[in-house]
Amino acid sequence: MRFEGAQEAVAAGTDPHAVAVDLVAEMSDAEKLWCLDGDVPCWAGLGYLANNGYHKSPFPAARVPRLGVPGFAFADGPRGVVIGPATCFPVSMARGATWDPELETRVGEAIGEELRAVGATLFGGVCVNVLRHPAWGRAQETYGEDPFHVGEMGAALTRGVQRHAMACVKHLACNSIENARFKVDVTVDETALHEVYLPHFKRIVDEGVAVVMSAYNSVNGDFCGENRALLTDLLRDEWGFRGFVISDWIFGIRDAGRSLAAGLDVEMPYRMIRATHLEEAIRSGEASWAEVDGSVARIVATLLRFDAVLSAPAPEPSVLACPAHRALAREVATRSVVLLRNEPVGSGPVASGPVASGPAASGPVLPVDPATIGTLAVVGPLAAAVNLGDGGSSDVWARDAVTILDGLREALPGSSISFSDGSSTAATVAAARDADAAIVVAGYTYLDEGEYIGRSGTAHLAHLLPGPDVPDLAARFEAEVAPHATVRPPPHVAARPSAAGFATGGDRASLRLHDADVALIRAVAAANPRTIVTIVAGSPVVISEWDHHVPAVLQSWYAGTEGGRALADIIVGRAEPSGRLPCSVPRVEAHLPTLDADADTVAYDRWHGWWRLERDGHAPAYPFGWGLGYTTFVLEEARAVLLGTGIRITATVRNTGGRSGSDVVQVYAHRRGSDRPRRLIGFGRVDVDPGDRAEVRVDVAMDALAERDVHAHAMVVRSGTYDLRIARHAADPGISTAVHVPSRAGGGPSATDGPRPPRR
Ligand code: BGC
Repeated sequence: MRFEGAQEAVAAGTDPHAVAVDLVAEMSDAEKLWCLDGDVPCWAGLGYLANNGYHKSPFPAARVPRLGVPGFAFADGPRGVVIGPATCFPVSMARGATWDPELETRVGEAIGEELRAVGATLFGGVCVNVLRHPAWGRAQETYGEDPFHVGEMGAALTRGVQRHAMACVKHLACNSIENARFKVDVTVDETALHEVYLPHFKRIVDEGVAVVMSAYNSVNGDFCGENRALLTDLLRDEWGFRGFVISDWIFGIRDAGRSLAAGLDVEMPYRMIRATHLEEAIRSGEASWAEVDGSVARIVATLLRFDAVLSAPAPEPSVLACPAHRALAREVATRSVVLLRNEPVGSGPVASGPVASGPAASGPVLPVDPATIGTLAVVGPLAAAVNLGDGGSSDVWARDAVTILDGLREALPGSSISFSDGSSTAATVAAARDADAAIVVAGYTYLDEGEYIGRSGTAHLAHLLPGPDVPDLAARFEAEVAPHATVRPPPHVAARPSAAGFATGGDRASLRLHDADVALIRAVAAANPRTIVTIVAGSPVVISEWDHHVPAVLQSWYAGTEGGRALADIIVGRAEPSGRLPCSVPRVEAHLPTLDADADTVAYDRWHGWWRLERDGHAPAYPFGWGLGYTTFVLEEARAVLLGTGIRITATVRNTGGRSGSDVVQVYAHRRGSDRPRRLIGFGRVDVDPGDRAEVRVDVAMDALAERDVHAHAMVVRSGTYDLRIARHAADPGISTAVHVPSRAGGGPSATDGPRPPRR
C-alpha cells in the first residue's frame, strides 16, 4: 500500500490509525527512522539559518517519497505566518485581551490560509504557557495568566487554523522563563501542575489539535522532550491525545533512546541526535522497534486524519496580507486595546501642574474630539517605529506596517501633528506645551523582550551535534531552499543589528518602563495636562509611579500591521475600547513571584497573577479582566442553572452610557469549603446599545470545575456547593449566586470526561 491507498481507505471510513499501522508495515527500517526527525541535514540547515535568517521556508519532516507519504512542513507563529509577506496580527497577549474566541477563530482561519499559501502544513503558533510572570521574554506569545482563559483562546485559534492546516500547541510544559529555558528544572506538585499549568493544554487536546511540541526545560527532573510522565502517561493515557509530539528546536532532546521511549515522536528540525544515536539506542535496548513503529504510526495516522483538509488546494500567495486579512488585523487590534484609565483633564495630581493649554473638558479626556485638536504632540520613539514584537521565532516579516504616528495622521487630517522622539526634552516639552493634547507612546521593543538565543547554556551539548552531513541530502536541501534564499527581509528587520534579522530580547529586566520613558511622561504631563499615554508591550507594565499624573492610559500591545490605525480609531472615538486585561497589573513588582532568568531550578505553585495578589491582600493597580470603555455598563440579573453536563449562566448587562459598547461578563467559581482559590470558569462578550439591556449566556463545561485528586491521579468534579461570582473583572464583587453539584451517587456529574455542553 502507498499513501494514496491509505487515503482512500480512510475516506471509505477505515480508522486512520489502523490504516497507518498497515502503511508503516510497508516501510523499511531506514524509512521509519527517517520519519523520526526533521528531513534537513543538520549542518546544511544551520548554515542556511546563519546566512539567510529564519523566516524563509518551512521546516520539512517525515516525507517518504517511495510510499508517497507527504510528511509535514512546519512554520511558526503566533502573530501570523512567519514566512513570506504575511499578515502580522496583534500578538497573542493582545488577542487574549479581546476575550473573544470567535474573533480568534477567524484569526486562526486567516493564518491557516496564509500558512498553506507559503507551502506549510503545520502551524507552530498555538503557544499557551500560562503567564506565570510578566517578565517572561515570550509573554507576548501566550494569551494571559489564567488557564481557563488561555485554554479557550488557544482552542479557538486551533479551531480556525485546523480548517486549513494542522496546528501545534506548545510548549508542554511549564515553559515560562526564557533565558534559562535550556537548563531550568521546574518542580511542581501534582495539584498545581494539573490545575494551573496543564488545563489549557488539555482543553486544546480536547479541541483536536494535531501536534504537541515539548518544552526545552525539564519538569520534576526530566527534560520535557524525554518526559514519559508528560508525553505518554498524561498526554496519551490520561488525555487520549491521538496526534504526534515534536521536540522544540535543536537540543529539544538530549538522548535519542530516552526521548523515543518517553513518547516524543519527531526530533525537530534537523537530522541530529537521533540520526546519530537512535539505531544504537535500539540495539542497546534503550528503545525498541515497537516504539519506532508506534511513533511512525501516530505521525501517519495524523496526516491521514487531516487528509481532507491538507488535500484541499492551497490558496494563492495573493492571500498573504490580502485586504480581508488586513481588515481582520485592524478589527482585532481595535478590540485588543485596553483603556486602563480615563479621567477628566485636571483630575488627580495632574491638577497641580500647569493649566491646560487646550480646550477645557469636563468629561474624561478620551475620546478626543478631532474638532478640538488643532495641534497634537506625538511623543516617543516608538510612535514612529514599526514595532511588531519579538524578533525571534515568532517574527512576522510583514510589509507596510502602519505606525501609531501614521495612524494618527490619517485619523486627524485637519490637525497639525508634531512628532518628537523625546531625545531633546526641551523641544519635546515645548511641542507638548503648545499642543491641544499630547500622546506619549512608551514601552518596549524586541530588544527588551522576546525569544532569547544569546548565551543559552547549550555549549556543553555541542558533543551531541552530528558528524558531517550526507552529501546527497545536503544537496537536495540546497536545491529545495534555493528559490527562497533570495527573499529579502522588510526594512525594519533588515535594519536590526543582529545577523540575518534574528534578534534576542530574552526575559524582561524589569516591569517598569525605561527611566527615559518615565522621565518623558512626567515632563510631557507637566507641560500638557491633556496627556494620554499608550503602552506598547507584550504583557503588564508596572505604572503606579506615574499613571495618576496623566488623565488617560491605554495598553495597546504589539498591535500588528494595522495597529496604528486601530489605536487612532480608539483615540478619536471612531471605535470603542473594549479590551480587557488578560493578566493583572500589580502596583509593585514585589507583589508577584520572583522570576530568576538564570535559574537552574524553580518551584512552581498555584500562586501567581491575580490569585497571588488576592491571597496576599495586595490590591492590583488594574485587576485581571479590567478594561474601561467610553460607555458604562451595569450587570443586572444573573442566574445559574445546573445542566446534565455543565452550568448555564445567564446575565443581563445594561448600557448606562451614551454610546454603543461591548462588555465581557466573567464567571468566577469557588467550591464552598475548598482550599482552592476562586477561579475563572467562563466568560461571554455582549454588545449593547445605549440605554439597552442585553442578555448574555455563558455555558460552563463541568470540567472547568475539576480538581486534581492526588490519590486517584485523576481530575474530578467534587460534589458540593459552588459559589459563583458573575462580574466584570476579578476584583469586582459582581453578582453572587450558587449551584449545588450533587455527588455521583446522586446521579449528578463527577468525572470530567463525557459530553460537553455547547460552547459559545
Ligand atoms: C521555539 C519554538 C519555535 C521553534 C521553531 C524554538 O526556539 O522555542 O517556539 O516553534 O524554535 O522556530
